[in-house]
Amino acid sequence: MKNTSNDSLEMPKAEEGGLTNTLNSMGTMTPSPDTFSRAFIEFAPKAPGRSLDIGAAYGVATLPALSSGASVIANDIDERHLKILFNRVPQTNRSRLELVAGEFPDKLDFPAGSLGAVLICRVMHFFDGPRIERAATKVMNWLAPGGKVFVVGETPFIGTARAFFPTYEARLKAGNPWPGVVENVAAHDPKRSGSLPALFHLLDERILGRVFTAAGFGIERLELFARPDYPADIRLDGRESVGLIAIKK
Ligand SMILES: C[S@@+](CC[C@H](N)C(=O)[O-])C[C@H]1O[C@@H](n2cnc3c(N)ncnc32)[C@H](O)[C@@H]1O
Repeated sequence: MKNTSNDSLEMPKAEEGGLTNTLNSMGTMTPSPDTFSRAFIEFAPKAPGRSLDIGAAYGVATLPALSSGASVIANDIDERHLKILFNRVPQTNRSRLELVAGEFPDKLDFPAGSLGAVLICRVMHFFDGPRIERAATKVMNWLAPGGKVFVVGETPFIGTARAFFPTYEARLKAGNPWPGVVENVAAHDPKRSGSLPALFHLLDERILGRVFTAAGFGIERLELFARPDYPADIRLDGRESVGLIAIKK
């Protein structure tokens, strides 16, 4: 995709809690990077290769990563998001930015060992289980030794998933490998279902740990974390998101 500006496209206005809707009903972009995205931003300039921001939206992580001196490939399934992102990047940082539209993981490819850091922030909770596994395998192949992947997703411990929680717990007890798959998004979150895709997959530390370990990664950090800035109906008890940092040794 060419690095060109398109001034006819505007970033939507932020809503409650500063969340900004995506143009393709794939949820929202956060107003600022969370703790795991900040770790990506810090690592990116010293990573053993270029950095990739998957599902970059309007650049919440790409913009500060460029400002920190990193070379960044911004990816999104929606080209319009990347055009808006490009318009938000200061001229002086544009030479270190590449825009790559495409669907991760199945329609996106990079040479083996060519990347130093990969951020997948609030994207995997739209994937079914096998797609999450394919994603981890692909990232493992793209990273150079010493490269790291940073993953963030929503957990079942969000206020809007209260009605789904018994299903999650029952599946956990039954040994279901993907207990957080929400088939009926409208029942789970009627207020936001219009701005979400049909499949929503609430993730936890067991799932991310299992999948990324099986793909060959060494886990450096894996924890649930609080989202004090989320709107009140999504906040619950400090376990709203899960984050992972894993290294290709
Ligand atoms: C919920 S937003 C998250 C935006 C940002 N990363 C954040 O943390 O706030 C999800 C973004 O990922 C993009 N996306 C969804 N599925 C994707 C896929 N399979 N490949 C690439 N981008 C995808 C959407 O278009 C959207 O911009």
